[in-house]
Amino acid sequence: MPSWFEWAMLAVAAWVVASCVLGLLVARVIAAGSTPSDGVAAWEGEAAKASRAAFEEEAARQRVLVVDDDAPLRSLLRATLSSDEFDVREVASAEEAREILRFWRPRIILLDVNLPGLDGLSFCTELARSDDHRDSAVVLLTGEQISETTARLAGARAVVRKPFSPLDLIALVGRVVGGRDFVSGAPNAEDGQLLLYARDLASIAQAERSQRQHLQQAYRQTATALAEAADVRDRATGLHAKRVRRYALDLAEVVDRSLLEDPSLEYGFLLHGVGKIGIADQVLLKPGPLTDAERELIRAHPAIGAEILRGVTMLQGTGIDVVRHHHERWDGAGYPDRLVGERIPLGARIFAVADTLDAMTTDRPYRAALDWDDAVEEILAQSGRQFDPDVVQAFLAVETKLHNAYEELSLVA
Ligand SMILES: [Fe+2]
Repeated sequence: MPSWFEWAMLAVAAWVVASCVLGLLVARVIAAGSTPSDGVAAWEGEAAKASRAAFEEEAARQRVLVVDDDAPLRSLLRATLSSDEFDVREVASAEEAREILRFWRPRIILLDVNLPGLDGLSFCTELARSDDHRDSAVVLLTGEQISETTARLAGARAVVRKPFSPLDLIALVGRVVGGRDFVSGAPNAEDGQLLLYARDLASIAQAERSQRQHLQQAYRQTATALAEAADVRDRATGLHAKRVRRYALDLAEVVDRSLLEDPSLEYGFLLHGVGKIGIADQVLLKPGPLTDAERELIRAHPAIGAEILRGVTMLQGTGIDVVRHHHERWDGAGYPDRLVGERIPLGARIFAVADTLDAMTTDRPYRAALDWDDAVEEILAQSGRQFDPDVVQAFLAVETKLHNAYEELSLVA
């Protein structure tokens, strides 16, 4: 029998597990998009929509009655199932259950077998024979080995063995609600109840971590594909975005490693040029010199890009600053906002070096690529003019690494 301390720990663990499961469910609902009722509700006022949503939410919650004389276990079950999905009530005996069932019809009754007074199997049989409770599915809770035949004969729909895994319990309740066949619970675990909660908590944390990694990977792949699509309009390949992302990440690691804690920075590096989508081909792809008006159009791409990406969650943070300010200059002669020195966001100051390095070391329609060493000389010459001197110092520290990346990514082409 667990101590009071263990019960307290279990209650906390149950709450955490229930919150995590709810969080994952909510994330899934958000990922799945809008609900089918969205179109119907569009014409309704905000207040009507809110009350309708509250009504639907209440109606959708599954009622669960817990019948167990073990008060801490009842609390644990309530905490495990309490969420937007379930409406849980609890009583300590079959006699109390009879009273509550006169006016409250649950979808699931979690029924302890060893109850004082009328025992669980007898009460289960009583419920099965009653027309009033035909829609309530009884799940027997027991620490004993009750056979499936015995449970079926008593009219139960499932058996849960104590101690139970909270995730198994939630899954079992879902299967009972969703079907009519008998559901066999997992065999009795040899671990204690606390350990089972701890294990489930660890597995939820692991699942949440890997979901987050998958999401980041999907974001990165999407951003890369979009950046490459934008690149191929005015460059022979989509490798520019890949190279500048690599240069800028290597530079950021030396300038201020903490910048990399914001994932939006990398998306800003990748999507810096997306504003070129808004510039006509005859201007963007013009082989000869540009007129002043055409130059102004080209210079609009950072502001256009920032506007396109303004509402995109994965760019919120330092990423959107890179998109808008990657053509600012340290001396204030850049665009679009003519920011000076440290008023330029650091991510954009770093990216300016990476972007210029790549522009100088790759062939363009109007000029051939510079040698790597000549490009390095030019970046050093622009320290304190076009570029932040600290970023140029960092560039010197990682220049060999960037050169290796340049050769590696040029070979891919
Ligand atoms: Fe640009």
